[in-house]
Amino acid sequence: MQIGVPRERKTLEQRVAITPAGALSLIKLGHSLLIEQGAGEGSSFTDKDYREAGCKIVKTLAEVWSNVDLLVKVKEPDLSEFQFFRPELILFDFLHLASLPELAQELLNNKVTAFAYENLKTSDGRLPLLEPMSVVAGKLSILNGAHLLLSQHGGRGVLLGGAAAAPPAKVTIIGAGIAGHAACATALGMGAQVTVLDISAEKLTKLSHEFPNVQTALSTSESLAHGCAGVDLLIGAVLIPGASTPRIITAEMIRSMGPRAVFVDISIDQGGCSETSRATMLDNPTYLVDGVIHYCVCNMPAQTPRTSTLALAEATLPYIIKLAEQGPAKILRSAPEMKHALTCFHGKLTNKLTAEALGMPYSK
Ligand SMILES: NC(=O)c1ccc[n+]([C@@H]2O[C@H](COP(=O)([O-])OP(=O)(O)OC[C@H]3O[C@@H](n4cnc5c(N)ncnc54)[C@H](O)[C@@H]3O)[C@@H](O)[C@H]2O)c1
Repeated sequence: MQIGVPRERKTLEQRVAITPAGALSLIKLGHSLLIEQGAGEGSSFTDKDYREAGCKIVKTLAEVWSNVDLLVKVKEPDLSEFQFFRPELILFDFLHLASLPELAQELLNNKVTAFAYENLKTSDGRLPLLEPMSVVAGKLSILNGAHLLLSQHGGRGVLLGGAAAAPPAKVTIIGAGIAGHAACATALGMGAQVTVLDISAEKLTKLSHEFPNVQTALSTSESLAHGCAGVDLLIGAVLIPGASTPRIITAEMIRSMGPRAVFVDISIDQGGCSETSRATMLDNPTYLVDGVIHYCVCNMPAQTPRTSTLALAEATLPYIIKLAEQGPAKILRSAPEMKHALTCFHGKLTNKLTAEALGMPYSK
């Protein structure tokens, strides 16, 4: 197959979908790769590295999109890339269509075969292509939150770990999944007082065995209200795969945190978990609601492109190889996890929860 990797277009997004080592593996299997000039630079991979692996470097976005069977990227296509959608094209990347109706419509109108990283699910219920980025975003949520709590950034002037005679900061994390777990471990490592809420008793039990100092509670409107009141740093790490994030945090709960507290909504990429959440970009990541600093960036791992690229590309490569070797029809029979990832096919939405979120018809 001819495989294309463009330079990412989202603001300050510097991850790249395939590393030179990954490209070499594909080339050895007889595939050819077009890489847009400079695509790997932000992740410290030069055009020379890709050329030495056997890739062809092309100068324009049009060249990389127009001449390939399989287009692999990190984030969902940018508006400037919609013009290249066509029926023969296979797209493999993060899509988050539940919160992007315009992109969904364009993919369907142009009959693109689109597989979404975030929906790829193994038989044991894991989301192996979302996981590495959730780990990175979970860790970063505490770093970003701690930074915003500093007084010069508008925060309360509270240090997560506190000091002698000064109590540690209170951190509440909603969601005990992959991102929530990473946030919890990082916040504890920095000495914060941590509470975690989830609807899964099993996940909370596991977490409290691993971290006996963490307070846990089942997520209900009462426990959420209690978990938000007066807290210094609130982290949203909720997910219902494929669906829009449920907006379980009310404006009143946000108000109850008090001025100059910080809310980091990791789950903003699926729409956000608070009534007050709206997506922001890395170049202007925050806004205030009732004096509470909101940080709602959909591509948090772009802040550490080298780490994030290595972690993501390692997870995606086996599936890129399978897709290139087998094509969509065969892979749907041989790899059931790719069936979950298939989101648009022959002009139809093939993920039920995404279709429901968008109010569009679903097709099996
Ligand atoms: N912003 C970013 O840059 C970025 C990066 C990576 C991942 N994410 C997003 O982070 C979110 C979390 O991802 P994850 O991999 O940790 O998912 P996960 O499935 O591992 O965990 C999600 C958790 O949310 C819990 N949950 C569902 N409904 C809940 C409710 N009402 N109250 C409390 N908990 C509830 C689930 O039980 C689960 O434990 C997703 O939306 C993902 O797309 C964002």
